[in-house]
Formats: sequence, structure tokens, C-alpha cells
Amino acid sequence: MSAPRGQFSSNFGFLMAAAGSAVGLGNIWGFPTNVAANGGAAFVVVYLILAFILAYPVLMAELAIGRHARRNMVQALRGISTGPVSRGAGTLAGFGGIVVASLILSFYAIVAGWMLAHLADPFVTLVGAERSAEWLTANSAARNFTFTAIFSGLTMAIIAAGVEKGIERWSTLLMPSLIILLLLLIAYVLSQPGAIAGLEAYLMPDFSELSPELMLSAMGQAFFSLSLGVGTMLIYGSYLSKQESLPRLGALVTLIDVGIAFTAGLLIVPAMYVAQEAGTQIFSDGGQLMAGPDLILQVLPALFDTMGTSGLFVAIAFFALMTIASLTSSISMLEVPVAFCIENLGLKRRPATLLVGLVIFCISSVIIFNFGALFGLVVSVSTEYGQPILGIALCIFAGWIWRRDQLLKELQEGHPDIEKTLFWKIWPWYVRLVCPLLILAAFIQSVL
Ligand code: PFF
Repeated sequence: MSAPRGQFSSNFGFLMAAAGSAVGLGNIWGFPTNVAANGGAAFVVVYLILAFILAYPVLMAELAIGRHARRNMVQALRGISTGPVSRGAGTLAGFGGIVVASLILSFYAIVAGWMLAHLADPFVTLVGAERSAEWLTANSAARNFTFTAIFSGLTMAIIAAGVEKGIERWSTLLMPSLIILLLLLIAYVLSQPGAIAGLEAYLMPDFSELSPELMLSAMGQAFFSLSLGVGTMLIYGSYLSKQESLPRLGALVTLIDVGIAFTAGLLIVPAMYVAQEAGTQIFSDGGQLMAGPDLILQVLPALFDTMGTSGLFVAIAFFALMTIASLTSSISMLEVPVAFCIENLGLKRRPATLLVGLVIFCISSVIIFNFGALFGLVVSVSTEYGQPILGIALCIFAGWIWRRDQLLKELQEGHPDIEKTLFWKIWPWYVRLVCPLLILAAFIQSVL
């Protein structure tokens, strides 16, 4: 007999874990810069709409399949299949999820490693070790290798401790800390000269920027941000008690994710304008607001440098925020292959974590030493292709393959009066027809 499955001890624990997975670098870095580069509040409006009409229904499909099956993505999709063809497709999509989750983690751990190195920098500067501080902030393969290793080790330690003692415990501790740090930083940055111009750039809508590309970036952003397609939400759903209402919890996760992304914009965009006021270049030569690694790793540190000693503390708070956000997301990615190894290969949790964690770390290392050729490629294969294709597969499984009565029964668990809700009337056919077609349309447009 295999060991009993882990389970979240409370719905708050689940909420923090699922919101922790969703809230990550995608919210604090990706969203604000996407907004600033795509017509300000116009992007926010499109994003909000897409998050609720497209990402939330897919999130619900993942949660419902996971909680019903109480298994990892491969087993869950096979379990709801009704014949050999759909079972084969389930195996394929399930493995696809495991591969894409692992690939996302392999590049995410590198970026998170940058955050950790920049978090260490102010401490080293405080004790006067200038050479070490230089090493920490210069982009070298040796530094990236070291800090990716440390970050991967942290992720593995949490996952090895299990669902309740690892994922739930750390998420409930880290998520509130993240919110407090974010609010403190916003209060500080908004009190600095130049911040109001940043607020305007962030909040004033420019609807002339609305375009198919904008819609596409907003969809990609919503999918990445809600951690969809790769089975993280499915596996977290599989640890959730039948007494909780799925539509309600799913809506809360979406709200927290969107809310934190929006709030992070109140920090990042004004901080860029404060940096400009302090003499740092924030627009690229093409007149675009800087959005890539230069923004987080050069523009903002340059700003902190101008703030003297208090800048060291602001830098610590900022990079602690980024590290926490990364960690609660990375654990959810690692749980996907680890749960598979435990349930399908019969491994115990610790050896499974060690094995999978090391394999993914090896992939990260290959990327680090071939950065120019591989980093962008892995990001685009996993997030621009992998996530939307798997998202369509999940909608097809929830809408067409899974027996209707079982799907409806799963939604009723923990929500007895669900039949009176709009969700009940709309979602079952919506996830069947509208979601896959919308994702497909956006996807086709992006590859053309
Ligand atoms: N949602 C995370 C973010 O916004 O940074 C990224 C992510 C986590 C993507 C987990 C995919 C995943 F499975």
C-alpha cells in the first residue's frame, strides 16, 4: 500500500498555496512592465477581462479535475477518460504538463537566483566586502550557477517536507509577508519625487494602443500568471477537501492574483520614474520603457544606490519580496513531477524530490552555460506554446471527455446551492466551446 496522500489542512492553507503559485515574478515584474509598455490602463482593462473570462474558467477545469481524481495530471486525465484514445491523449497531455512545468522551473530558478544574489548584495555591502558585492551583481555564469543551486535547494527542501508541513506551512507564512513588504515599498516609493508621473503612465488609459498583439500579450500574461496548463493547479486541487466550494476558491485565487499584479504596478512603474528623476535612463533607444532584466537588475538597483543607507534597506525589502514571490511559485512547479514520481513510480517523497530537483537543476545549468542560445528558447517553448496548447487540452478533457454527470457532481461538492448560480448555468458549456476556441484563435494568431 502506498502512503496516504497529503491534503491541505484548511481552505486558507489551500488559498495561500494556490495564490502563492499564481503570484510570482509574472505579477511583480511581468505585469507592471507589460502595462507600461502597452498603453497603461488599457492593458489593465483587457487583462482584467481576460483573467475572468478566459483564465478563471480554465483554472476551474484544473481544480475540478484534480479534486475529483485525487491524482497527478497523468493519472487524473487517464482516470476521467472513457476509451483507449482519450486515455492515450490523457497520458500525452499529462506528460506534456510534467515536461512544461519542469522547463518553466528550469528558467524560473535562474531568474529567482538573480533575485537571491541581489538580496545578498546589500548585506555584503553593509559589512564592506566590496569585491564580493561586485561579484554578486555582475552577471556571470559562476554567480548564476551558485544562486540557482541555492534557490533550487530551498525549493526542494520545502517540497520534501510534504503538502501540509512544506507547501501549506511555507505559503501561509510567506504570502502575508509578501503583501506587507509590497505595501511598505509602495508607501515609500510614492513619497519620492517623480512617482506621480509614474502613476499617470501606469493608470492613464491609451485605448489607441489596443491591438491584437496587446490582446495576445494579455492572454499570455493571464495564463502564465495563474500558473495554468501545466497541472500545478490540478495537483493543488487534488489536495483540497471536498467540503470547499471550488468556484468560490477559484474566484478568490484569481482575485488575489489580479489584485497583487495591479498593486505591484503601483510600485514598479512609479519606481522607474523616480529612478528617472534621480538621473537613470528608463527608456530604451527606441523610446520604449525598459522591461527586461535591465529594469529589475539595473534601473532599480541604481535607484536604491542614490538613496544612501536607507537604499540598502529598500533593496533588501525589494529583493526579499521578489525571492518570496518566486519561491511560492517554484514549489508549485516542482510538486507536479514529484507527485508523479510518488504516485506512478512508487518513490517516497524525499528521494522523489531529490531526483526530480537534481534533474531540473541540471537543465538549469545547461541553460546557464548556453544562456544566449537557450534561455529565450526555453521561455518561449514552455510559456508561448506549451501553456496555451495544454490549456486547450484541459478544456477538452473537462468539456468533452469527462462524463457530464461526474463533472457536475464535483462542482456540487462543498457548494450545495450551486444550481442557483450563474457559474452553474454558464461554465459547463463555456469551458466546452468558448474557452478552447478563444485560446486557439489567440494561439494561431501568435504563431502566424
Ligand atoms: N504564476 C507564476 C508567476 O506569475 O510568476 C509563474 C508560474 C508558476 C507559471 C507555476 C507556471 C506554473 F506552473
